[in-house]
Amino acid sequence: MLTFFLNFYKSGCESILPSGNCSLPAKGPTEFPPNFSFGAATSAYQIEGSWNADGKGPSIWDDFVHNHPDNIIDRTNGDTAAESYRFFDLDLEALKYLKVNHYRFSISWTRIYPTGDISSKNQKGIDHYNMVIDKLLANGIQPMVTIFHYDLPVELHKLGGFTNELFIDYYVTYAEELFKNFGDRVKTWITFNEPVRFCKPGYGTGRDPPQVTASGIGDYLCLATILKAHAAAYHMYREKYFQQQNGKIGITLDTSFFFSETNDTELIDRCLQFSLGIEAHAIHSKTGGFPEVLIKDIGRNSLQEGRIRSRLPSLEGKWKDYIRGTADFLGINHYTSKYVKRATQPMGTNPSMDRDYDTVEIVDEKNWLKGKSFWLFCIPEGMEGLLKHIRDEYDNVEVIITENGWSDEGELEDDNRIHFMKSYIQGVLNAINDGCNVTHYTYWSLLDNFEWTKGYTEHFGLFTVDMKSPKRKRTPKKSAGYYRRIIESKGIPID
Ligand code: BGC
Repeated sequence: MLTFFLNFYKSGCESILPSGNCSLPAKGPTEFPPNFSFGAATSAYQIEGSWNADGKGPSIWDDFVHNHPDNIIDRTNGDTAAESYRFFDLDLEALKYLKVNHYRFSISWTRIYPTGDISSKNQKGIDHYNMVIDKLLANGIQPMVTIFHYDLPVELHKLGGFTNELFIDYYVTYAEELFKNFGDRVKTWITFNEPVRFCKPGYGTGRDPPQVTASGIGDYLCLATILKAHAAAYHMYREKYFQQQNGKIGITLDTSFFFSETNDTELIDRCLQFSLGIEAHAIHSKTGGFPEVLIKDIGRNSLQEGRIRSRLPSLEGKWKDYIRGTADFLGINHYTSKYVKRATQPMGTNPSMDRDYDTVEIVDEKNWLKGKSFWLFCIPEGMEGLLKHIRDEYDNVEVIITENGWSDEGELEDDNRIHFMKSYIQGVLNAINDGCNVTHYTYWSLLDNFEWTKGYTEHFGLFTVDMKSPKRKRTPKKSAGYYRRIIESKGIPID
């Protein structure tokens, strides 16, 4: 840890506190390495629509939006969304306009296996993604595929979803179907998107589907199952497909970066362990398993609650070694940063991940540039700091930035998105110039889309989608032109 901060200072980061003005000075060369890849990202449920077309089965998000429309701020859903299932060619046009090198999209499990199981295999779903992959490649765009982005098959939820270890077998069978059908052309696979963002509201607070309310227990169990399923898919790929297909597999984790006004470096490390280390440590650290600080604190809290075992499942024994080292890169979704302080009174409900975290997160509402999403502020120093943390903590593993983006009201003249992109991409470049092994940057999102419980009220897209036109016309925003200039020049335009 000490080395992290020494490096942090050594690397010329004058201050570890953010300036708040959404900009970052350049340090070192102004161009990205020639093979650096720029892309854009989406996920199936958020853009595809056609929720029950061509044999697709229901996912927990289909059920959730239909049964609980009140839980979506504008009572909308992804039934039709941007209609990318029907109009993929429009997305392809958008990608070509940007001149991206790669496109990250997710596959809908229930298009491939409508019930989640191989017995329900649906050729039309396979045909659809074959078409997508072929067209991308024909246009020189590398497909980057997320195997799971929140849309769990309803039938698997009935079996307990992520709380049942049987999930691992179903997941591996589904992943193998993808490797078999698409692995000759897809060379970058992401097993899961943002486990914490899925497990905490899905199996902890119950805000999101599948609405299991088991705070501080179900969420940790879900996170442990994801680590095991990820590792199982990795091993299967390595044993059966790697030799012919030669692709890479990783997991995408999300994390904020953290700042302390009192320079409490131990606290910053604790926060990074609770947000990133909670999944990264088991896969990417030398020792494996959950981070020590989590094992210790959650174990202690569990005993104090009168339990006989920790609420954090144990990865000791066979799992620890089985999971450690099972990734060729680390996928990172990073959007924002926070100040942190040690809590002076108990946080959240008892038990809960928040109670275990025991930290207060603070944002500077007055001085920081704020996105439409209540949690999103432009703090590019965080991007640079996070990448250096990963460099030092996880042996300079290859990092693929799988998401980074800005939300607003959907305006075409989206200057704040341009400021955000400019400064965060500068943060990536500064980190590379300081020895960080970052190979890809992926903007979230290609299109305005269904932003989960925020419906269509928060816009992250480089393209706006006319939801009233039957063909869902896409129009580039000002930021799309700006991003294209970055991609074309492999550098950051000064003006
Ligand atoms: C998710 C996306 C989401 C984005 C913006 C990420 O957490 O992977 O699905 O739309 O953030 O909230």
